[in-house]
Amino acid sequence: MKLEIELGDISIFQATLDDLDEILAIENHVFSTPWSRKAFEAEINGNEFSSIFIARSRDSSRVCPSTDLGATPPMVGYICVWIVFEELRFMNIAVDAKLRRQGIASKLLSRSIEAGVGQGAQRGLLEVRKSNHVAQALYMHFGFQSYGSRRQYYTNPNEDAMLMALEPIVFPFR
Ligand SMILES: CC(C)(COP(=O)(O)OP(=O)(O)OC[C@H]1O[C@@H](n2cnc3c(N)ncnc32)[C@H](O)[C@@H]1OP(=O)(O)O)[C@@H](O)C(=O)NCCC(=O)NCCS
Repeated sequence: MKLEIELGDISIFQATLDDLDEILAIENHVFSTPWSRKAFEAEINGNEFSSIFIARSRDSSRVCPSTDLGATPPMVGYICVWIVFEELRFMNIAVDAKLRRQGIASKLLSRSIEAGVGQGAQRGLLEVRKSNHVAQALYMHFGFQSYGSRRQYYTNPNEDAMLMALEPIVFPFR
């Protein structure tokens, strides 16, 4: 496991195939059309543009009291981004449902933006369900603005996507 950064009790790592069971446990719980194991494997091993960052917490108050915080503390969230030349594309993000509104997604987004800016990205782009006001609030918190929509982009249930952009992206934040 390659440690990227420590932010308080949260450590952020680059995901490896060994992390997939924990990623999928969150993914399958959170999304109505979850990414498959094969899809995550392709991101980790087969996509040169892709980075998946995972967050693990050493704070026993954040996780189940009986959890053994041994060598590998439990995963609390992850993000998948593509750094494609000047674009940083946000592909997927989820935080354990029991641990939301504690700044975990913010730490994952910050690390992704730092990585994107470090590789020359100048704008951040993403799609989000029109009804997903919580995720939209997160992105607006980071300065993303809506610039359009894409009809019937999502299935299960069918729904339009709101298109959001952050430009320019800078790190550290002003
Ligand atoms: C969206 C999600 C990743 C946010 O994770 P999180 O760790 O709870 O987010 P943070 O604690 O870092 O929140 C940062 C900011 O986002 C906004 N925000 C987050 N959750 C919010 C909520 N429930 N209501 C209103 N604003 C919210 C706030 O501005 C918050 O800052 P504040 O707490 O100082 O007010 C999480 O809710 C999640 O996993 N949702 C399901 C998966 C999903 O929808 N992914 C996005 C797909 S596009």
